[in-house]
Amino acid sequence: MFKLSRRMQLIFDHLLPGKPVWDFCCDHGYLGLNAYESGLFSEVHFVDQVPHIVEQLEVRFQAEYFRDDALTQAGFHSRPGEDLQQPVSGTVVIAGVGAHTILKIVQSLTENGLLSADRLILGPQRDEQMLSDLLQKVLPNTFKTDCEMLSVEERGRNRKLLIFDKIL
Ligand SMILES: C[S@@+](CC[C@H](N)C(=O)[O-])C[C@H]1O[C@@H](n2cnc3c(N)ncnc32)[C@H](O)[C@@H]1O
Repeated sequence: MFKLSRRMQLIFDHLLPGKPVWDFCCDHGYLGLNAYESGLFSEVHFVDQVPHIVEQLEVRFQAEYFRDDALTQAGFHSRPGEDLQQPVSGTVVIAGVGAHTILKIVQSLTENGLLSADRLILGPQRDEQMLSDLLQKVLPNTFKTDCEMLSVEERGRNRKLLIFDKIL
């Protein structure tokens, strides 16, 4: 496994073992590739709206990461997260994009009845308090309204991660 940045490692450390991982806005795919290699998760899904990003990631995955005997399934989804048409479960990660993009994706999943996740890990570029406040109105009532907010330094900037858990 390659070394993740501190922010990515903090996200990785909060993924729920034994469950699927959905990495929305995955870009380089480092989180999902590490999750696949770790063997700790039942499925790893890569979602990005830019087709060539997902195509190149899948080529790289097949060449360097895929293992016949792996218990983890991998899925590649080349579309905007808000256009996804299948249920998402386990941990949903949406990081490295604006708060409005995160809100749009979560709202769409919720309205379409596709949000079956146990945990959301959200890493907006900024406006984390606004995102947290708005999400409390958008999330289904199966989620706790108060989120855990974590901080991590990245390239001299303080980045925040919001973690929303389903009510058990
Ligand atoms: C800066 S990268 C974030 C990479 C990684 N998640 C991180 O936290 O470092 C942003 C990525 O989000 C993708 N993206 C932006 N809006 C999106 C959307 N609505 N649905 C899916 N992907 C999106 C972009 O194509 C780009 O690859």
